[in-house]
Amino acid sequence: MNLIIFGAPGAGKGTQSAHLIEIYRIPAIATGDMLRAQRRAGTALGDQVKGYMDRGELVPDQLMIDIIKERLQKPDARDGFILDGFPRTVAQARALDEMLTQLGRRIDAVIYLRVSRQVLIDRLSHRYSCRTCEAVYNFTSDQAHSLPRCTVDGGELYQRPDDKPEIVANRIDVFLKHTAPLIDYYNAQHKLENLDGQMLVDDVRGDIARRLAGLRKGAGSR
Ligand code: AP5
Repeated sequence: MNLIIFGAPGAGKGTQSAHLIEIYRIPAIATGDMLRAQRRAGTALGDQVKGYMDRGELVPDQLMIDIIKERLQKPDARDGFILDGFPRTVAQARALDEMLTQLGRRIDAVIYLRVSRQVLIDRLSHRYSCRTCEAVYNFTSDQAHSLPRCTVDGGELYQRPDDKPEIVANRIDVFLKHTAPLIDYYNAQHKLENLDGQMLVDDVRGDIARRLAGLRKGAGSR
């Protein structure tokens, strides 16, 4: 399975790709996580992308295309992948189609998690992440006064700088302007699976599993 999980900031892409990794045993390639790892490591790329990310803007297309081109050629992506956070513009989607064609591969499905603006803002205002492994937690503002350590690796929990309300508002606007056109792009390719991302996490997971099982059955009977 070569999948894209797609949706606005806070739609649940990371949450659902964690489940998909277990089902399909393929890597999740999350561009936001990759960029944050570069920043933590203090690389030149990390420095280059910092301003864009902290303002909630998109990193330039060519930079992202080069990162994905290199990542898709790694051995662990040979049997499939889940792209989380890429593509984010029509130019990135076209470049992805081209690079996959060159590799003799194609995207099987694009899972679109549909979530309203108010729910996105609410979710991101409660999200805390582990500084080292990016595991996600949810706390109310009262609970956030004494945050525990990460249960996975004991790392410090923090609120991403781009989860501040004014930056979240910009990220959603950027999504609507630059990324939402991909709904038409992938609809035209008959690859879009349009889901209600506001259901409970387990219900979203169940819906994704059913749709992907349907795709596999369809492919098997052809
Ligand atoms: P990135 O890290 O990709 O951020 P994002 O797309 O804005 O997505 P998020 O990680 O905020 O949300 P998510 O959908 O994964 O939600 P999650 O599962 O955590 O990108 C960051 C930045 O990097 C960008 O702004 C840009 O600058 C740059 N960048 C990255 N890729 C790029 C590209 N290709 N081109 C250019 N620039 C790029 O869930 C959110 C919260 O909701 C959690 O607390 C979770 O527990 C909760 N939740 C999830 N599902 C549910 C549910 N069903 N019900 C209730 N709560 C739920």
